[in-house]
Amino acid sequence: MKILVTGATGMLGVKVIDALLERVAVEDVVISARNLDKAANLKQKGIDVRKADYEDPASLEQAFAGIDKLLLISSQGDDETRIRQHSNVIYAAEKCGVGLIIYTSISKPQKSTLPVAEVHRQTEQHIRDSGIPFTFLRNNWYVENEIGTVKNVLEGGPVLTSAEDGRVGWVPRVDYAEAAAAVLSSSGHENNIYELSGKPASYADMARELTNILGRRVTVRNVNDRTYQEVLIANGTPDIMAEFSVEIQQSIRRGDLDIESDDLPKLLGRPAITLKQSLTEIVNQFEFKNHPR
Ligand SMILES: NC(=O)c1ccc[n+]([C@@H]2O[C@H](COP(=O)([O-])OP(=O)(O)OC[C@H]3O[C@@H](n4cnc5c(N)ncnc54)[C@H](OP(=O)(O)O)[C@@H]3O)[C@@H](O)[C@H]2O)c1
Repeated sequence: MKILVTGATGMLGVKVIDALLERVAVEDVVISARNLDKAANLKQKGIDVRKADYEDPASLEQAFAGIDKLLLISSQGDDETRIRQHSNVIYAAEKCGVGLIIYTSISKPQKSTLPVAEVHRQTEQHIRDSGIPFTFLRNNWYVENEIGTVKNVLEGGPVLTSAEDGRVGWVPRVDYAEAAAAVLSSSGHENNIYELSGKPASYADMARELTNILGRRVTVRNVNDRTYQEVLIANGTPDIMAEFSVEIQQSIRRGDLDIESDDLPKLLGRPAITLKQSLTEIVNQFEFKNHPR
């Protein structure tokens, strides 16, 4: 059984590989990477590293030869680029007779208003149309997306949001990675869709958890979208990122990431990492950086 992971040099991908190597023999693991230098440490572990770029269909076809299961970790960039790149991967998988394609999607993409939802809607549809058996891992939001929020709190600021009481199923990348490894290393996931989400929580809940962790009162500051954007820009966030962040806040406010599902703990065989645990970890990382032991 040959299992290939794309995007294995990225922040999610390295964690998928770590979790996968705990479950299957290294001889069964293959990665495709566009930059072989970045994959050098994976090669050292004995993993079959194949060079492939999402923009180069021929390289993808070479890389996917003999692969039974493929994890497509969604790419980065604008919608058009990502949709094109994902399509190249799906076509190559089809040509190579890949038996199962597993795709990291987003929560309920069909009705989501998230700025990234269109990419996932179209990619899921393309995978269905390809006829390749599939598994969609609909990842909710990385808690690591909130590192800036925590940093602001550690510097004495509030938890800033324009999402009102919208809730998010934040979990850290490591949980999504372990869930992906669980699917890659076991059977019976064909044509399944997993809504991978932690217990939904609001920014006010986040402020409460940070209050407990830090032992001092952390407040939540609810502002309108315009103020939210202005504060981000004033704090040095590039305009385009600030605009994107506001769109995320709007989607959260509309409930796009408010997902109740036990798919994640079922795949993990344990409870998902809680918001409190994740925030504690982020706080500890900052404290270690500022006061290394
Ligand atoms: N749910 C969420 O909260 C959330 C948040 C952010 C992102 N995401 C999605 O989740 C994905 C994985 O997250 P991440 O944190 O691991 O992102 P990341 O660290 O940026 O990793 C992206 C991976 O994609 C690879 N890649 C990009 N363009 C490629 C190309 N043309 N050909 C081949 N490989 C290419 C990168 O290769 P290199 O190492 O060579 O750059 C890297 O391995 C992201 O790409 C994004 O689609 C989800």
